[in-house]
Amino acid sequence: MKRLAIIGAGNVGKVLGTALKAKGYRLGAAFCRTEMSRRVAEQVLRCPVPETAAQAAQAGDIVFITTPDRVIREVCEKIAATGGFRPGQYVLHTSGAHSSAVLTAARAEGAYVLSFHPLQTFPGLEVGLQSLPGTFFTVEGDAAALDLAAELVDALGGKMLSIPTALKPLYHAAACAACNYLVTLMDAALEMYAVMGIPAENAMEALSPLVQGTLRNIAVLGPQQALTGPIARGDLSTISCHQEILAQHCPALLPLYTRLGLDTVDLARRKGTLGENEAHAIKQLLGG
Ligand SMILES: NC(=O)c1ccc[n+]([C@@H]2O[C@H](COP(=O)([O-])OP(=O)(O)OC[C@H]3O[C@@H](n4cnc5c(N)ncnc54)[C@H](OP(=O)(O)O)[C@@H]3O)[C@@H](O)[C@H]2O)c1
Repeated sequence: MKRLAIIGAGNVGKVLGTALKAKGYRLGAAFCRTEMSRRVAEQVLRCPVPETAAQAAQAGDIVFITTPDRVIREVCEKIAATGGFRPGQYVLHTSGAHSSAVLTAARAEGAYVLSFHPLQTFPGLEVGLQSLPGTFFTVEGDAAALDLAAELVDALGGKMLSIPTALKPLYHAAACAACNYLVTLMDAALEMYAVMGIPAENAMEALSPLVQGTLRNIAVLGPQQALTGPIARGDLSTISCHQEILAQHCPALLPLYTRLGLDTVDLARRKGTLGENEAHAIKQLLGG
């Protein structure tokens, strides 16, 4: 079985290392920057954590560089310059924003390179491991490494998605909109409920079935058919009411409400529940 090296054993590094170890992969070594993270990595991954990234990379047939995006290229170049890579090795990173081009220094040493992005969120080890089954892994890079990618995806219980290298940042912008901006939206909703004195955990409990139901509807029907609410119905007076109360109690949230409202008008037009004149009137009300 191939040996893994994890360079940057943070959230993703620990989840991938733990999950692949459970599937029989051997952990050759891991590397972290700070002493505290090194100790945690040693405890969680139970593998050697050498002094340098190059030493850790040498111990792997498959090297995962799971550092923050901003240092992947630099870390890869440093490992290459200090003899950590060899021909035939596989070097992968898990960034959604960067392509495999940031691993050019490893390719120059004869390694095969891939970007291998889990389209999932990993805030911690346990929840991360629970989320893995069914996760899509977006892969691009050297054709000679695609079989390995398929093998890893299979071991992780995931599914593979291939994208064109040049459009990778667009792919990642979409993932951020779907994941991070949903979190921001929920935070805004909780802020509105807080004005009524409803604590965040109660508000979350109340909103959760609505949000889960909406996600299910989007998955089954698509966004257009899943859209309901005052904009889809053309209820101008309700929207006007929302604007007034927001201006009074949460003025900072008004721009978010109106901006998303304008896009929701377009979606409702595509759905066909909103006439041209109604759409125009709502857009005017929203300041569009
Ligand atoms: N978390 C997610 O939900 C998620 C999802 C999909 C993809 N990703 C991608 O996965 C990668 C890792 O993200 P993460 O959330 O796991 O990050 P993280 O939890 O912050 O972990 C980053 C790790 O890299 C180490 N590191 C930082 N700077 C380093 C350097 N210069 N040299 C060597 N190691 C260094 C850190 O060590 P110290 O702790 O010692 O600083 C830490 O172990 C990123 O490319 C990210 O875009 C993340």
